[in-house]
Amino acid sequence: MSRIWSIALLAQVGSAQVTDPLQYVDQLIGSANGGNVFSGATLPYGMAKAVADTNSSSNQGGFTTDDSFVTGFSSMHDSGTGGNPSLGDFALFPYAGCVNDTIDGCVFPKLDRATPFLNSSLEASPGYFSLTMQSGVNAAMTTAQHTSLFRFTFPSIAAAPYSNISTSNSPLILLDLTDLADSRQDNASISVDADTGRMTGSARFLPSFGSGNYATYFCADFSGAAIRDNGIFVNSRASADVKDLNISRGINSRPLPGGAWARFEDSSPIIVRMGLSFLSAEQACSIAESEIPSFDLDATHAAAVTMWRKKLSPISVSTVGVNNSALTNFYSGIYRTMVNPQNYTGVNPLVSGDEIWFDSFYCLWDSFRSQIPFLTILDTYAVVDMIKGMLNIYKYQGWLPDCHMSLCKGYTQGGSNADNIIADAFLKINVSDIDWNTAYEAAVKDAEEEPYDWCCEGRGGLDSWKTLDYIPAQDFDYKGFGTMTRSISRTLEYSYNDFCISQISSGLNYQTDKEHYRQTSTNWLNLFRADQASYLPNGTNTGYTGFFQPRFLNQTWGSQDPLHCSNIDPDPNSICSLQNNAAETFESSIWEYSFFVPHDQARLITTFGGPREFVRRLDYLHDQQITYIGNEPAFLTVFQYHYAGRPALSAKRSHAYIPQSFQPTPGGLPGNDDSGAMGSFVAFSMLGLFPNPGQDVYLVTPPYFESVNITSPGTGRVARIRNVGFDAEYQSIFIQRATLDGQPYTKNWIDHSFFTEGKELLLYLGRNESSWGTQVADLPPSLSPYAGF
Ligand SMILES: *[C@@H]1O[C@H](CO)[C@@H](O)[C@H](O)[C@H]1NC(C)=O
Ligand SMILES: *[C@@H]1O[C@H](CO)[C@@H](O)[C@H](O)[C@H]1NC(C)=O
Ligand SMILES: *[C@@H]1O[C@H](CO)[C@@H](O)[C@H](O)[C@H]1NC(C)=O
Ligand SMILES: *[C@@H]1O[C@H](CO)[C@@H](O)[C@H](O)[C@H]1NC(C)=O
Ligand SMILES: *[C@@H]1O[C@H](CO)[C@@H](O)[C@H](O)[C@H]1NC(C)=O
Ligand SMILES: *[C@@H]1O[C@H](CO)[C@@H](O)[C@H](O)[C@H]1NC(C)=O
Ligand SMILES: *[C@@H]1O[C@H](CO)[C@@H](O)[C@H](O)[C@H]1NC(C)=O
Ligand SMILES: *[C@@H]1O[C@H](CO)[C@@H](O)[C@H](O)[C@H]1NC(C)=O
Ligand SMILES: *[C@@H]1O[C@H](CO)[C@@H](O)[C@H](O)[C@H]1NC(C)=O
Ligand SMILES: *[C@@H]1O[C@H](CO)[C@@H](O)[C@H](O)[C@H]1NC(C)=O
Ligand SMILES: *[C@@H]1O[C@H](CO)[C@@H](O)[C@H](O)[C@H]1NC(C)=O
Ligand SMILES: *[C@@H]1O[C@H](CO)[C@@H](O)[C@H](O)[C@H]1NC(C)=O
Repeated sequence: MSRIWSIALLAQVGSAQVTDPLQYVDQLIGSANGGNVFSGATLPYGMAKAVADTNSSSNQGGFTTDDSFVTGFSSMHDSGTGGNPSLGDFALFPYAGCVNDTIDGCVFPKLDRATPFLNSSLEASPGYFSLTMQSGVNAAMTTAQHTSLFRFTFPSIAAAPYSNISTSNSPLILLDLTDLADSRQDNASISVDADTGRMTGSARFLPSFGSGNYATYFCADFSGAAIRDNGIFVNSRASADVKDLNISRGINSRPLPGGAWARFEDSSPIIVRMGLSFLSAEQACSIAESEIPSFDLDATHAAAVTMWRKKLSPISVSTVGVNNSALTNFYSGIYRTMVNPQNYTGVNPLVSGDEIWFDSFYCLWDSFRSQIPFLTILDTYAVVDMIKGMLNIYKYQGWLPDCHMSLCKGYTQGGSNADNIIADAFLKINVSDIDWNTAYEAAVKDAEEEPYDWCCEGRGGLDSWKTLDYIPAQDFDYKGFGTMTRSISRTLEYSYNDFCISQISSGLNYQTDKEHYRQTSTNWLNLFRADQASYLPNGTNTGYTGFFQPRFLNQTWGSQDPLHCSNIDPDPNSICSLQNNAAETFESSIWEYSFFVPHDQARLITTFGGPREFVRRLDYLHDQQITYIGNEPAFLTVFQYHYAGRPALSAKRSHAYIPQSFQPTPGGLPGNDDSGAMGSFVAFSMLGLFPNPGQDVYLVTPPYFESVNITSPGTGRVARIRNVGFDAEYQSIFIQRATLDGQPYTKNWIDHSFFTEGKELLLYLGRNESSWGTQVADLPPSLSPYAGF
């Protein structure tokens, strides 16, 4: 096709844009291969999350597409998390009938009832999930904010694919006092109302990556065929004569199975409405009655669709030249940023009814980098609520969260990353009534006060931090207790946390604090060992010298191979997570952490020997696959070329990872989605803007679409990016020149006013790297001046 022809074609279809973003949401992305994504029905930030649970060893999000068996249909989940499986409380399980028409002819325990489902029956779309089990029973579900609605449809026995499973047209539905992780504690209870069939009760479970425990309450109501009989079950035996059960955990490794059941007169579809609360069963009932008064699945589903469409609509992209696969990758990524965290306002015992409570911050180490910054653009007021929620966690539990789920404190992975999130929002959001003074006080507490248990809040080693200006390996700390590892990554993260605090000090005019935290934000330099070399596993010298190294209390150097815990670490016995004997870098290597100085790239570039050396090293990090894009520390490294005056290389690198490592398929994610962190990486990258979170900076690369429009929820203004000379084959991904609101623009970054003021950025693309955005004056802000360019 000639050039003239393609321009004519473009002009012809140039106005094509996404009409309904929901058609590009595929909830099954990340449902296999460890993505751990929640694939079911929910509202944005909803507490009710209904899906089929499987017995996969990777069922953290409930459902998986890895040929595992269905064990039940439960109503609470997290999405994309690692750790133990989360939630999955109070599974339902339906039978078309019981063998010999006796109650004990139905199989109650979870282990024994696991059953395959028919792949071809699977349907998942915003606010909806449905599948058919091998028994022929179909389960379709949708949700309101705290209530799920399930519709079970039964085959007539003769028509069932495996008619030997049941032998009567008298369906049974059981409710199991269980959760995904089998973590139930003493004492769970359930009561069944003989007349109305209503089941109420509660149980106490363990959080999946944290300390303490939590209780949840439910209220299940049935609609459809008349109830024939009901009762409770314990282990594999059931009775219609007993209506109340208090059950112990049991002494074996799994809690003793127990729960309730209801049997129905005929095989008309049964609708089960499941209300949920962290407060009481009474509240679960009243919420369910008000949220879904009429048991209407279609109406509840339609309301969910409307809500999702409204949430996703502020971002509109041109469809010119791009295939569905790209659009699906993009909008599904955006969708996943709004599944977690969850809004538990008004339904928990920790704060009074109208005080905001957000939970499933899982974990902020993951989500500060791009997920929450993404929502700041797309759903500003939700981020306002999330920050208010974090401040209530501070108010009622003493500290800002770092990881938090199911009302419990979660394990801190490195620094106190709520500080970064608060700074990011402080710089970008000016439409809120957030109490910034309290936010500042909370962040300063992270920096100044060591908690007794810094497993799950704040920071450890603060005495050493304040006297030595780094976190020592094998620290002596008698004031607070936590896992004494990660001394390098904690030093780097605390340095950046302090920089973020200084950003807030600056805005609040606390001049002394600002100077102080800017000073402590340079502490990363104290672990830099200029003569440290690095060898590949086969003994070849990488040729790079100068890496962070562990340092002891007596200020002598320790040693960690810079490639230890990297993606190419060949040692299967390397221990890289939160174990007591893990590395001095968390879930990553010194090589990768070397680049984690988000606030002072100029100084880092000088430290690495100037921009050419910096770029060479960054290329090596990616080309040798030392970094792993499936974990969050890799995100910013894709775009850090901008700081060395090579924005073209960021664009190139972004296309090397997307779609290669992020396919819109069930197994397409490179690791856990981490509450939508991976989704936000895809969304930001394809949008052509990537944040340096904690700073008012977005690094500019060409969007993956001919044009994008983004409506700011705060001001209603529409920001626009247009690629002039767009090429859907992505050969022309290099910015030759740009204009911002019609004026020539050479900076390789923009700030948040781009969105709130609805500016227009025109990017003129070409096939080769240009001089655009390469001069020192074009580079993003850095604490130290750029030198050596
Ligand atoms: C799931 O259940 C099936 C049927 O009991 C069983 O064969 C399979 O091993 C289970 N899978 C796992 C991972 O436990
Ligand atoms: C069902 O689908 C999954 C993934 O979508 C696939 O791995 C599996 O092989 C399929 N199973 C069957 C029986 O077709
Ligand atoms: C069903 O009835 C048959 C015949 O009486 C008996 O052999 C079988 O054990 C019964 N099964 C159950 C689960 O009760
Ligand atoms: C029921 O029938 C199916 C298909 O014929 C068979 O695979 C299965 O083993 C049978 N189950 C029982 C419990 O007899
Ligand atoms: C569970 O209930 C039993 C019986 O009422 C009681 O003795 C026990 O203390 C309870 N356990 C807990 C942890 O509440
Ligand atoms: C079961 O537990 C509930 C809630 O803790 C309690 O109110 C009730 O009295 C207990 N019932 C029995 C039979 O112990
Ligand atoms: C962006 O908005 C402009 C002005 O309303 C409109 O002409 C254009 O079609 C929109 N583009 C997209 C991709 O929605
Ligand atoms: C959270 O829930 C509360 C109470 O229902 C509601 O007022 C608030 O708007 C919700 N926030 C978000 C971001 O959904
Ligand atoms: C060691 O590995 C590197 C990277 O794979 C390779 O370039 C080099 O040739 C290897 N050296 C030896 C001696 O095998
Ligand atoms: C410094 O501390 C390390 C770790 O405890 C120890 O191995 C080393 O011998 C000490 N060096 C000196 C000079 O005291
Ligand atoms: C969609 O387009 C992208 C970019 O051109 C390409 O990498 C990908 O293979 C295409 N996918 C399909 C399914 O055609
Ligand atoms: C918030 O920022 C926008 C864009 O910079 C500006 O137009 C608006 O006036 C500001 N609003 C407040 C309340 O400061």
